[in-house]
Amino acid sequence: MLSALNRYNRVDGGNPACQAVPLFLKLCAPLCGYPASLPAEGGEDLAADASAGARIGTEAIRRRKGGVPIVSLTAYTYPVARLLDEHVDLLLVGDSVAMVLHGHATTLGASLEMMIAHGQAVMRGSRRACVVVDMPAGSYESSAALALASARRIVEETGCQAVKLEGGVEVAAQIAAIVADGIPVMGHIGLQPQSVEKDGGYRIKGRTDENVAALFRDAEAVEKAGAFSFVIEGTVEAVAADLTRHISIPTIGIGASADCDGQILVSDDMVGLTVDRVPKFVKEYADLRSVVADAAKRYAAEVRSRQFPGPDHVFKAIPDKDKA
Ligand code: KIV
Repeated sequence: MLSALNRYNRVDGGNPACQAVPLFLKLCAPLCGYPASLPAEGGEDLAADASAGARIGTEAIRRRKGGVPIVSLTAYTYPVARLLDEHVDLLLVGDSVAMVLHGHATTLGASLEMMIAHGQAVMRGSRRACVVVDMPAGSYESSAALALASARRIVEETGCQAVKLEGGVEVAAQIAAIVADGIPVMGHIGLQPQSVEKDGGYRIKGRTDENVAALFRDAEAVEKAGAFSFVIEGTVEAVAADLTRHISIPTIGIGASADCDGQILVSDDMVGLTVDRVPKFVKEYADLRSVVADAAKRYAAEVRSRQFPGPDHVFKAIPDKDKA
């Protein structure tokens, strides 16, 4: 049996696809519109990894504890991965895809097949960022054996660098089993969207002493089980900062604290494309809702007035005498 690390290629650049990157860049980058050299951006360790021609790995992310903040965004599709890849350290194929792209009311609408299909698209569109794929509800909670089988499927069918799952003490055995198999795991504590029905809504965490103690127990359990980092979502700012100081692996905040070791947002929220309620913790860096609506309005007007297609968008017949 292959060693765990070799088997899942978790060492930066160990993936056969990653080893092929320098050759790919030389031969295909100009054709694909990718620059022929990798950008060295995002902190010392990551720059070194990137300039060596490797995809950023989970160990490089782990080493960023207390350093330059880890920049993370969600990505679900090939074009968005292409656009985000050079600017971020980590792309998360979040189960939020069920809500954002598929219109489900909660992340409980995500399936393993859905996560794998989006994971494959993001891997095709990225070559630099560390790609983490979420394990959907129902694919890991009931046993370590199920969690391991699901994590193996995700990694084998997408080639991603790691999986993420929600929970603390109650999923420590699942995390430990996946990590023991050589697959890096990112944890997710605090507000856990997959527990929305159990919790009776999206409830901010860390508002009672009892809950703060539970958060510390969860963080310690996730760290001890071997996760390389964890998301802290929807948690009182000071508590998220304390958790970050208390734990030795990087914390990635969302609705948490600027003191976390990194930040993540849903990319559709970040670019102002979200059509339903935008959460309080989101900062919109663009207004793509208006851009898309305005483009659709102008296109509709030009189609109705026969301005589109214009002379540049149609094909003229070639006279027979000029044909080859
Ligand atoms: O699914 C998701 O997008 C997430 C992030 C919000 C952390 O889990």
